[in-house]
Amino acid sequence: MILQGRLLVDPCQVPVPGWIRLGERRIAQIGAGDPPETPAAGDENSLICPGFIDAHIHLPQFDSMGCDGMGLLQWLGEIIFPAETRWLDQETACAQTRDAYRRMVRAGTLGYAGYLTSHVQGITAVEEAADRLPLRAIAGQVLMDRNAPGTLLEQPPAALQRAPRRRLSFSVNPRFAVSCSDELLASAAARLSGDTFLQTHLAESKRECELVAELFPDDPHYAAVYDRHHLLSDRTLLAHCVHLSDDEWALIAGRRCVVVHCPTANTFLSSGLFDLDAARAHGVRLAIGSDVAAGSEIDMPRIGRAMIEVAKMRAMSLQPAAYVPTPQEVWKLITCGNADALGFSGAGRLEVGADADLLLLKPRFEIDKHLISRLIYTWRDDYITHCVLDGQLIDRREL
Ligand code: GUN
Ligand code: ZN
Repeated sequence: MILQGRLLVDPCQVPVPGWIRLGERRIAQIGAGDPPETPAAGDENSLICPGFIDAHIHLPQFDSMGCDGMGLLQWLGEIIFPAETRWLDQETACAQTRDAYRRMVRAGTLGYAGYLTSHVQGITAVEEAADRLPLRAIAGQVLMDRNAPGTLLEQPPAALQRAPRRRLSFSVNPRFAVSCSDELLASAAARLSGDTFLQTHLAESKRECELVAELFPDDPHYAAVYDRHHLLSDRTLLAHCVHLSDDEWALIAGRRCVVVHCPTANTFLSSGLFDLDAARAHGVRLAIGSDVAAGSEIDMPRIGRAMIEVAKMRAMSLQPAAYVPTPQEVWKLITCGNADALGFSGAGRLEVGADADLLLLKPRFEIDKHLISRLIYTWRDDYITHCVLDGQLIDRREL
């Protein structure tokens, strides 16, 4: 099957007209100029780019977006925990996961790392959704044993005993130190083997950090709680990291952890402005995520735009010398950058042999040197006409 369109191989270059031949689940051939046969989709006005990857999302929270006026801990208690208890019902878990998958693909997100609930029902739900729409994914059952409603406290771990799947792997997700005892964190470490990822939250809000200092008085700082349990490695995804000391930045950089910046969520919950300069100074590996439902949108170009805007706000207020990323840099982050951070080898790029997870776009403007900037700032999901998911062509209107 052939796709036709301008090829967005490198966001720093104006894309040239060309075509892509799809092999079994991979890009088989890429050519410039007119396609060698009638394309299955696209034309000379289309754009072909890699699918987006979201490095932090909560599937059970899709119906909980937009409840403003609370800080993190109050919002978890009033909005999120009640929503997550609904996954005790298998049908609800399946229906909401199917809907989350459909909405992600419609938005061009073809891979993610995310959270389910503490129930085993979420595992069945995500396996079922992946049978229909095989997103490339790292998903984890949430672990908690305190400071949450009893129905959400720890349940027997099921995910890691499931048969491995080609595009879906299960991670260990202790929610955050507030809701985990030392015993639970030690059991999380015991569940990590070989290439299993660990996902958790770190230093999102000031009140959360104060509470962690009260709960773990013998640790020098928040990151040390996770480190004492050997949870920090190059397969650890740490969401937020808004309120870190220099020692914590140095520790997580040294452990090669991935920091997942969630700019829309940090603004929504008034958690704080992410310090991109500290992350850069320490050479920390960086990814970005929507963090639905603290983030109120799933479109990754908009999350990239929010990252730029947060950096501009820091530059205009606190820190005139603050680094402001370019639209091209954030475009790379939402494609190959996030793919690399999540260990999705061969994803997020247009090259022969790469995963056939692609988007065909028809933006309503001239294609010139401002293309990526226009895409980032004016993004609408209806720029997408088709997706190629695991080699299968999908007309977006049919989703
Ligand atoms: N910290 C612990 N749990 C959560 C969650 O579900 N969302 C966000 N944004 N932060 C958290
Ligand atoms: Zn989160």
